[in-house]
Amino acid sequence: MQAVLDYLARNQSRFVDELCDYLRIPSISAQPNHKRDMEAAANWLAKHCREIGLKPEICRTDGHPIVLARTPRKKGSRKPHYLVYGHYDVQPPDPLDKWTSPPFEPRIANGNVYARGSTDNKGQHFAHLKTIEAYLKTGTELPCDVTFVVEGEEEMGSDNIVPFLRKRKSDLKSEGVVVSDTGMPSPRHPALTYALRGVLAVEVRIDGPNRDLHSGLFGGAVENPAMALSQMLAKCRDARGRVAISGFYDDVVKLTPLERREMKRMPGTDAELCRLLGVKQLYGESGYTMHEQRSARPTCEINGLTSGYQGAGSKTIVPSYASAKLTFRLVPNQTPEKIVKLVRAYLKKICPPTVRMTFEPGHAGAPYIVQPTSRQVGAALNALRSGFGHPPILLREGGSIPIVNDFKKILGVDTLLLGLALPDDNLHSPNEKFSLDQFRKGMMMAAHLWQELGRL
Ligand code: BES
Ligand code: MN
Repeated sequence: MQAVLDYLARNQSRFVDELCDYLRIPSISAQPNHKRDMEAAANWLAKHCREIGLKPEICRTDGHPIVLARTPRKKGSRKPHYLVYGHYDVQPPDPLDKWTSPPFEPRIANGNVYARGSTDNKGQHFAHLKTIEAYLKTGTELPCDVTFVVEGEEEMGSDNIVPFLRKRKSDLKSEGVVVSDTGMPSPRHPALTYALRGVLAVEVRIDGPNRDLHSGLFGGAVENPAMALSQMLAKCRDARGRVAISGFYDDVVKLTPLERREMKRMPGTDAELCRLLGVKQLYGESGYTMHEQRSARPTCEINGLTSGYQGAGSKTIVPSYASAKLTFRLVPNQTPEKIVKLVRAYLKKICPPTVRMTFEPGHAGAPYIVQPTSRQVGAALNALRSGFGHPPILLREGGSIPIVNDFKKILGVDTLLLGLALPDDNLHSPNEKFSLDQFRKGMMMAAHLWQELGRL
């Protein structure tokens, strides 16, 4: 094992260079004009896997390809088998003018690499690859067989990986999945995440007149779709910060006193969060702390809102339509299937008769929670302690990784969520970065993890 750790230490700067090569590929899954870049990223990754001694395979899907790469193994190996899941797709980098340096020209500054996808998620699964490289190149016996599953559609809902898991079920038969795609509250608080929120995306469109109208000639007599939509959206939450959609909270499981106590031990105060994000005051559902609101309570968010004239100056019109992209974060035991019905029914009920509403459900994923008491969790906690030099904590987090439920449903295994992101890494925001220290410690954590898991 010492040989592995030495190898990691000796090769850090090369690892950073390689990560930068990976980050230069603008693999934005949501945008059709980046289809070739998605191919390029999958090819780059597969080639890299081959170079470090893995056996890669590029698997075609109805969408972007999935890269599967396995450690060399002897026939009839009796080692435990684990999957490492990651995603090579990234969020769109917009708004571009808010980036200090271009999103796909990685820049190293004050111990970080700045680029879209650096933390979410290229840097994090790359750390796992480098640890496997260290085992293979030093000839150190890997205590586990490992298969990497790196997909290209996580940021759009992971639709095509589900049939893939079914089709390749026997190759993917394993003891568990390791995922580094979550965070930790500070470099001194390595964390195992045992719950994630689910998500439901919808789009609602309000159509009014058959063209944009002169607001002086027609305004007042014809409903303004932007106004109608705004009023409907405003009715989606109440004065206490609760989602006002009828039935929304029916299946929500209460936080246990133990969880609320644990939550109180989390580092990070309201004032610090205000400062980090540049807000005057926090918002939130009354009766819950900031940490609870962010991780264990459901929400309704407007992600995008479009209507009318957006150019310079003013234009006096009644726009012909307005539309909004919404997402709901869900917690146990809400289901996207039930929530989508409630949302549609509620919007339909409050939509005025002067306009037409269309409602388009988008991607969805159920919430995830496991009891953090298994031997695998114990092993992972040991690895976190060894890698980061601090006692780890157990975390519920607010983001979503829908595929973890499918790992459970289809493959029957739990996921160890061992995230390396820090609170100021700007995931999905301009100036996303990844701490090189987290990169390095993440590799060490992974080196210990295979020892710990191999011992079970
Ligand atoms: N890595 C994130 C999720 C995450 C980040 C979880 C930090 C916990 C802490 C992941 O890549 C992501 O952004 N997921 C999307 C999923 C959605 C598009 C289906 C999300 O949460 O918005
Ligand atoms: Mn993401």
